[in-house]
Amino acid sequence: MFSKTTMPSSLSMVPLFSLLLSFMICSNNAEGPPSPGYYPSSKVSPTIFDRGFRNLWGPQHQKQDQGTLKIWLDSTSGSGFKSLNSYRAGYFGVAVKLQTGYTAGVITSFYLSNNQDYPGNHDEIDIEFLGTTPDKPYVLQTNVYIRGSGDGKVIGREMRFHLWFNPTQDFHNYAILWKTSEIIFFVDDVPIRRYPRKSDVTFPSRSMYVYGSIWDASSWATENGKYKANYTYQPFIGRYKDFKLQGCRTGSASSSCRPLSASPSGYGGRLSPQQNVAMQWVQKNYLVYDYCRDHTRDHTRTPEC
Ligand SMILES: *[C@@H]1O[C@H](CO)[C@@H](O)[C@H](O)[C@H]1NC(C)=O
Repeated sequence: MFSKTTMPSSLSMVPLFSLLLSFMICSNNAEGPPSPGYYPSSKVSPTIFDRGFRNLWGPQHQKQDQGTLKIWLDSTSGSGFKSLNSYRAGYFGVAVKLQTGYTAGVITSFYLSNNQDYPGNHDEIDIEFLGTTPDKPYVLQTNVYIRGSGDGKVIGREMRFHLWFNPTQDFHNYAILWKTSEIIFFVDDVPIRRYPRKSDVTFPSRSMYVYGSIWDASSWATENGKYKANYTYQPFIGRYKDFKLQGCRTGSASSSCRPLSASPSGYGGRLSPQQNVAMQWVQKNYLVYDYCRDHTRDHTRTPEC
């Protein structure tokens, strides 16, 4: 943000001090949200990719290198992976580093779904990175589909965010905590969205697998399809590592499964006040779309709004 220049020696201490102060305030903002005070990603040890997942499609566009999984999209194919097990609840996280440059039309994703078990009637919980033109930031889209609301009817429950860091520069942790009472999306352990179970019809409750993929969604991904994938810039690479799977496997006894707590002890699994402050900071500063506040939508189909 500040280019390195030599200070004129005539500069007195007062403006120097205020310059330093404004730099500190400025870089504080750039550092992101207030600390959530609780770090669920640190409570789950990583799973080796091959022990938790397998390739689902585009096997020739998937490669592992020193603990990092690369999947890529070019004009011939994208690629996707799927967990070996299905889960009825749990904490599902991964560190992702996104492709830089022109990525319009490209979606890099990490999500839960049962679309192969319930085609036309499936549930889904999504983290999707919507690619972009080089002058604009990535959009992180969170979404929840319930009992086929994504199949033909397409009643999405999207909340979209910009990020307080450059997601193409480094790996950052993204996670979905899915419990029977709520879904919480985390970015670097900061809760960015809480989707509570307000009723049975507005909440996914059937087992799901964990997926990741990179694919061409030119028809809608970037500014409603205005900018499309341009294969001059191929390959588009998604890098994934630190896979965290702490789920209740389908079929396991309820007693054997204790999903990770959303919050530190003492809050009964509810987000702590400190976590809520961090979430509100993100939603105030980085939320760019909320389906409940979209007045062009028919909210009789999303009664939770
Ligand atoms: C893709 O990008 C190249 C290089 O910028 C440009 O010349 C070309 O017109 C673009 N293609 C499409 C289909 O937009």
